[in-house]
Amino acid sequence: MKHYIGNGCAVESLPYEKTKACLVAEKAALLKNEQSEDAFFIADLGDIVAKYKKWRRLLPRVEPFYAVKCNDDYGVLKVLADLGTSFDCASKMEIDKVLNLGISPSRIIYANPCKQTSYVRHAAKRNVDLMTFDNEAELLKVKAVFPDARLVLRILPPSNFKVRCELGMKFGCHPAKAKQLLETAKELELNVVGVSFHVGSGAEEAAAFAVAVEQAHGVFQTGLDMGFPFTLLDIGGGFPGQVTAAISFEEVVDVLSPALDHYFPASSGVQIIAEPGRYFVASAFTLTANIIAKRVVARDKSNHEHLPDQVVTGDDEPAYMYYINDGVYGSFNCLLFDHATVTPSVLQDGSDMTFVSSVWGPTCDGLDCIMEDCRLPEMQIGEWIYFEDMGAYTMCCASTFNGMPRPRVFYLCHDVVWAQTYSKQTKKMDQPIPKVIPFMKAGHDLFETHDQVEEVFGSPRPELICDLDPLN
Ligand SMILES: Cc1ncc(COP(=O)(O)O)c(C=O)c1O
Repeated sequence: MKHYIGNGCAVESLPYEKTKACLVAEKAALLKNEQSEDAFFIADLGDIVAKYKKWRRLLPRVEPFYAVKCNDDYGVLKVLADLGTSFDCASKMEIDKVLNLGISPSRIIYANPCKQTSYVRHAAKRNVDLMTFDNEAELLKVKAVFPDARLVLRILPPSNFKVRCELGMKFGCHPAKAKQLLETAKELELNVVGVSFHVGSGAEEAAAFAVAVEQAHGVFQTGLDMGFPFTLLDIGGGFPGQVTAAISFEEVVDVLSPALDHYFPASSGVQIIAEPGRYFVASAFTLTANIIAKRVVARDKSNHEHLPDQVVTGDDEPAYMYYINDGVYGSFNCLLFDHATVTPSVLQDGSDMTFVSSVWGPTCDGLDCIMEDCRLPEMQIGEWIYFEDMGAYTMCCASTFNGMPRPRVFYLCHDVVWAQTYSKQTKKMDQPIPKVIPFMKAGHDLFETHDQVEEVFGSPRPELICDLDPLN
């Protein structure tokens, strides 16, 4: 059964649990029937729903504004919009994309401290009035084209914590310089409403959040003392999105929540928002690519320089070079831009024997290397290899260099999660109405057995979905 959520986006409903390998094998078989071996994503929208619920449960005082830049795929934006998430946009195009979903401009923060003037004008035209700044020139720009904007001062995060992608070298006013900048804002009669920070994307030490909150509190007090009506704290992004991340979301919550309660207690009336990107999407996407070419390499080449490259000598096992149909110029751009590491999984079972291998993308560039040195079982041309946790900063930055297409996306969601999320909007029923729907927890907890699902639903199930008001 499929649910349609607009823009040609069909979501396949899963009545019972299936492993990633099983889902990949099913889609690969489907493509084989179509005589295609193109790379593809599987997007588990239920995983995004689970992340949203987890956020609301563990950080109930913090409103998530999803960072569109992380993955601007329609299915992702639509589900998050329907769940009630707000959005962090970095450009005119992202603003329009979100507004076109029917989102109110009040659910958007234009969180780019250095904006193109015409984009600020566009934000004014579309009533997106909340935006960040961190320098004087930006204040002059806003004064000129959008003097009524509600401004948020972005400060530098602490720099002594490990993070995957640092942002402090590019953005953020040093807290010690905040007063000076706020004085300029005052002279220009601009409306500064709060403070923001971003500890860096992919924070690896939870304590960074607590220290940043403390620093933000200092600047917040400065603003209040200067007479600014500060009412907003924006704690940025940096939250982990996959179980293999250096820290867990729970670890962040353990240090962040007490810091927020201490410096910005509920009684302060301060609105707290965040700009999570990878948190919502990293684990929802699995990328599968096809082995389009293969080369056998002699590993002891150095001892046999007189032999041609591909001759495997008898005194060593071979190594393999695999060429797959997505690469560094495509979804694996995350290796360069996001400092990511990726882990391949293979479909075929069988021998435990693995060989030294390297995995390469499909373009003609030597830089297009996905894994220089890993161990894999021997595979053949036409077989599939898949990579989990590929939802963040992958497809959004991919090019079509060498004419290589972007992978298509198969959307899916477990029946129960879908019905929970979209129950009010169910238009057409084909089975009895569920009596009790169990509350779902984390992504892998989402899946009930087939029997449980039947028990929960009996019938009917949603088939056609329109605009939504979920999680009620
Ligand atoms: C301003 C801003 N907000 C939010 C994010 C999202 O960060 P993350 O994906 O680490 O949550 C970024 C990422 O670069 C950013 O620049």
